[in-house]
Amino acid sequence: MSEYVKLPHPRTSGDQSLEEIFLNRRSRRDFQTSSLSPSEISQILWAAYGLKEPERGKRYTGKANRTWPSAGAIFPLEIYLVAADIIDIPSGFYHFIPDEHALKLIHDKDLREDLYKIAYPREMIRVAPASLIYIAIESRVMDRFGERGRQRYIPMDIGHSAQNVYLQAEALGLGTCAIGAFDDEGIKQVLDLPAEEIPMYIMPVGYPV
Ligand SMILES: Cc1cc2nc3c(=O)[nH]c(=O)nc-3n(C[C@H](O)[C@H](O)[C@H](O)COP(=O)(O)O)c2cc1C
Repeated sequence: MSEYVKLPHPRTSGDQSLEEIFLNRRSRRDFQTSSLSPSEISQILWAAYGLKEPERGKRYTGKANRTWPSAGAIFPLEIYLVAADIIDIPSGFYHFIPDEHALKLIHDKDLREDLYKIAYPREMIRVAPASLIYIAIESRVMDRFGERGRQRYIPMDIGHSAQNVYLQAEALGLGTCAIGAFDDEGIKQVLDLPAEEIPMYIMPVGYPV
């Protein structure tokens, strides 16, 4: 099983206007069991945390080369992917690497059943072909901004990114829902991440019913 999945290059044009996407956007909680394509998940991850020009790499334009603004261009987040039904991408738990526009496999377990038990409402996580997991690393902002960075800037940053996911999903005919209600200790156990990584959002993505 490949431990590294290079994602297709994201597209930079679409069929709908931004205004149409605003009108259609809403939280989608019922998903079909249809698979996602590699291009679709590539596009979603690009909107969530991608480099604007991934082919040029981070070194070319510096840290402020993302699809959303971040206080001090610190980008204190990490995004993980629960991949359950994506064509050509084996099921498993992955870390998204923006600099390479790639997924790095952490393990090949399907975490949907475990996450289903600790989030509210539950069913959408069990059905969705993929879920993004947002993690915050507080020390990245506290080193520069102290408590203000932790309390204000991290939630603001996540809001910018999550809205991108909502809008990108709608533009692709997909749907998502930002889930902030979950058992904090339960999710840490399920994800088994380093202690400094704090789970903030789960965003299931799929074709809405
Ligand atoms: C910070 C935040 C946390 C949320 N947490 C949940 C959640 O845990 N479960 C859920 O079903 N929806 C959650 N939502 C989605 C809201 O319920 C939804 O955005 C709101 O009802 C407005 O509906 P709309 O997104 O369809 O316009 C959350 C939204 C935000 C911004």
